[in-house]
Amino acid sequence: MIETQERPIERVGVVGAGTMGAGIAQVMATAGIAVTLVDQTEAFVEKGIASIAAGLDRLVSKGRFDAAERDAILARIGTSTRTADLAGVDLTIEVVPERFEIKRDVLQAIADAVGPDAILASNTSSISITALAALVERPERVIGMHFFNPVPVLALVEVIRGLQTDDATVARTMALAARIGKTPVEVADAPGFVANRLLLPMINEAVFALSEGVASATDIDTVMKLGAAHPMGPLALADLIGLDVCLGIMEVLQAQFGDDKYRPAPLLRKMVAAGRLGRKSGRGFHEYTSATTTERGPT
Ligand code: CAA
Repeated sequence: MIETQERPIERVGVVGAGTMGAGIAQVMATAGIAVTLVDQTEAFVEKGIASIAAGLDRLVSKGRFDAAERDAILARIGTSTRTADLAGVDLTIEVVPERFEIKRDVLQAIADAVGPDAILASNTSSISITALAALVERPERVIGMHFFNPVPVLALVEVIRGLQTDDATVARTMALAARIGKTPVEVADAPGFVANRLLLPMINEAVFALSEGVASATDIDTVMKLGAAHPMGPLALADLIGLDVCLGIMEVLQAQFGDDKYRPAPLLRKMVAAGRLGRKSGRGFHEYTSATTTERGPT
């Protein structure tokens, strides 16, 4: 290995300060890594920081660490509205909306800002890492780093190797995931990778069952919680993920496999068209008392 490939990752850029981006910034900073959190506007960045502060406060109240440690973690997170401020980071991870054109533009802007040795990771849940890598120079440093919601709680990171990704990039990314306390699992670049290829068809099937009147949303969820030991039912999980995100992933699976077994349930489309997106809009298959609630179950 050349020297730059062995260098540990000390500075990370997170582009996108939504739920997932904020969670990723939180776990990175908690592991002692300096983070630059970037989003388009001050308001987006501030919302991300507020959500990180709330997450850390929750851990302080549980006695995981004290207020001084919380302040030290927050102090490790710098913010910006310009990707140019990512110059000098060792790894960037983009966590922007799941649309190819958006990811393309952001990835190219990141590649322009960072050095040639910086790893360019994507938290995409279904877009091809190989296709994203083809957009930038030195595609061998592009990789998928797929986190799960809620990021501070769920232990998995799917590490996705694109066709062009080299071994050093995979090794450094796996090491980073382990360092922040996650369990990395390397998977090949295939539609939906592993987790969403299995999870989303289950959710989609639950929506079909609901629309056919097989059982109520609450009962479908109870069946899978008590009968399959899932921590939450598939429809409550869809509300957590966001119904628009679920629909987008099903569309990618259907298009990329060319197989209509992945067709989105019409009711899922209808819910998205109605703006019933799940927890973030206050209503999905269940109703939520607060649109910002992310940790309470259906009311
Ligand atoms: N942020 C931080 N911590 C959170 C949290 C959040 N948003 N939500 C819950 N927690 C913590 C709680 O504080 C609690 O911690 P302690 O055990 O230390 O007390 C723990 O998680 C359990 O929470 P609760 O007791 O409130 O509730 P719960 O036991 O029902 O767990 C849950 C809630 C963690 C969300 C659990 O139901 C769960 O794991 N559900 C499945 C989530 C899942 O499958 N996520 C993957 C979605 S797919 C995805 O993200 C990828 C994609 O591309 C779409």
